[in-house]
Amino acid sequence: MALVEVDHLTVRFGGLTAINDLSFTTEEGSITALIGPNGAGKTTAFNCLTGFYKPTEGDVRFDGKSLAPLKPHEITALGIIRTFQNVRLFKRMSVMENVMSGPHSITKQSVFGALFHGPAQKKEEAFIRQTALESMEFAGIADLGDSIAQDLPYGLQRRVELARAIAAKPRLMLLDEPAAGLNDAEKEELMALIRRCRDELGITVFLIEHDMDMIMNLAEKIVVISFGSKIAEGTPDEVKNDSVVIEAYLGSEDEPA
Ligand SMILES: Nc1ncnc2c1ncn2[C@@H]1O[C@H](COP(=O)(O)OP(=O)(O)OP(=O)(O)O)[C@@H](O)[C@H]1O
Ligand SMILES: [Mg+2]
Repeated sequence: MALVEVDHLTVRFGGLTAINDLSFTTEEGSITALIGPNGAGKTTAFNCLTGFYKPTEGDVRFDGKSLAPLKPHEITALGIIRTFQNVRLFKRMSVMENVMSGPHSITKQSVFGALFHGPAQKKEEAFIRQTALESMEFAGIADLGDSIAQDLPYGLQRRVELARAIAAKPRLMLLDEPAAGLNDAEKEELMALIRRCRDELGITVFLIEHDMDMIMNLAEKIVVISFGSKIAEGTPDEVKNDSVVIEAYLGSEDEPA
């Protein structure tokens, strides 16, 4: 079943059409990649799936439900979580605190509740701590709980970000260029972790990536966009051999402005 449906999506910023009549679906339990040259509209598509941007035309649906009328926190509550093109952590906070902010984004604890540390709040805090610990273990960073985020090498910061996303127990994980800035060894580890998120936790993964090695190894389906429009869609082998893709993207030396 299609978990995500992007349905004739168009997004305009003033006179600029960032996404142009884009349609595709991603299956529940799959790993899908969205690729395309710089400025093609990839992050904009993600931003529509998190409610940060709204469709100018068309719709984006999750599990059959339109996301267009929903606020970002309502979309998070449905089980959609994202990571960012540039790592966004609470730099001066510990790894544990960072990962604990994952389940915090989905628990019902109100600001009012957080001010009064009653038994219900204590219980929830314990639950959040336990959830964070489990996802740190899953991500192989259980021993780094007390480390300050900004003191870690970049590859580990990416891992913390992923652990935080996992701790929110999402159904869909949107990863915006997770391999950016990683060396080959870090990239291999990250690929294995992303695959385990799907295989062992059942999380549907949708990633934007420029790293062809990563895409070809990880994704079952690839959607290629250029100037906001879809130019190809298929398996890694189909896309790799598509002459339109090769011309517009893979083989192009000069990038569109
Ligand atoms: N809030 C905004 N206001 C105006 N223009 C925007 C806005 N967000 C994105 N754009 C424009 O929309 C186009 C698509 O941008 P987007 O960030 O989605 O590209 P991308 O495919 O993620 O590129 P990259 O690979 O460089 O990250 C670009 O021309 C960008 O300048
Ligand atoms: Mg982008």
